[in-house]
Amino acid sequence: MEKKQELYRGKAKSVFATDDPNRLIMLFRDDTSAFDGQKIEQLARKGKTNNKFNYFIMKKLEAAGVPTQIEEMLNDNEIVVKKLDMVPVECVVRNVTAGSICRRLGVEQGMDLKVPTFEFFLKNDALHDPMVNDSHIIAFGWGTQEQIDEMKALSLKINDVLKKMFDDAGFILVDYKLEFGLFNGKLVLGDEFSPDGCRLWDKVTRESFDKDRFRKDLGNVIEGYEEVARRIGCPLD
Ligand code: TMP
Repeated sequence: MEKKQELYRGKAKSVFATDDPNRLIMLFRDDTSAFDGQKIEQLARKGKTNNKFNYFIMKKLEAAGVPTQIEEMLNDNEIVVKKLDMVPVECVVRNVTAGSICRRLGVEQGMDLKVPTFEFFLKNDALHDPMVNDSHIIAFGWGTQEQIDEMKALSLKINDVLKKMFDDAGFILVDYKLEFGLFNGKLVLGDEFSPDGCRLWDKVTRESFDKDRFRKDLGNVIEGYEEVARRIGCPLD
C-alpha cells in the first residue's frame, strides 16, 4: 500500500491518504496534548506505545462484536484503517466521577456511579468541546437518532468488555472517550483507545496511570502507559 499526502494533522496523530480510496494510514506521533491543545509536549515512545495499545484494545473489541476501523499494523507508529466519515462528537462514558463532571456538577472525585453515565461533547477545541445532547446532534445534522442510539449502545457494550479487562489487570476504568464514523453507511468505532483518552486508576492505590499524569505534571507518563500495557498483556515490542 502506497502512502500519499497528509490529509489531516491532529494534536497527537496524523492521517495520510493511500492509493486505496477506502483506506488511510494513521500515524501516532510522540506529541502529547492536554487542555484542548494548550499544553503540548513530546514524550519518547508515546506514539509507538499508543499505536500498539490501540491495536490490542481494538482487536479485543472486534472479538466482542464491536465494528472498528482497524485493518493492519504497518510498523511501530503506523496502522492502516478504514476511511470513515466521522461523526463530529465525542462519546464519554463514566463509571466513577473525575474531571469535568466534578467541575460541572460540583461533585467530589472518586464517587462510584450507580450506572455508567453517557455524555456527548462537540469536537471543537476553540469552544473547549462543549457538551451537547441528542437534539443538537439531530438539529445540526451531525447524526441521526438511529446513529445516536447505536453510539450509546456500542459505547456501553465497550464498557462491559473493557471494565472487566482492566479490573482483571488491577485497574478501575474511571472514564473514557470514543469517536465513531460511518463506513459504507455503517457505524464503526474510529480514532483510538489508549491511556490518552481514558482514566485508569490502580484499584488499590487509586494512582493514575493515564494522561492525568501529563495534565497534572505527575511525571513517568509513558512509564504509566507501559505498566498498563504490561498488566493487560499488550505486547509493546
Ligand atoms: P472529561 O472529564 O475532561 O470530560 O473527560 C472524560 C474522559 O474523556 C477522560 O478520560 C478524557 C477523555 N476525553 C478526551 O480524551 N478528549 C476530550 O476531548 C474529552 C472531552 C474527553
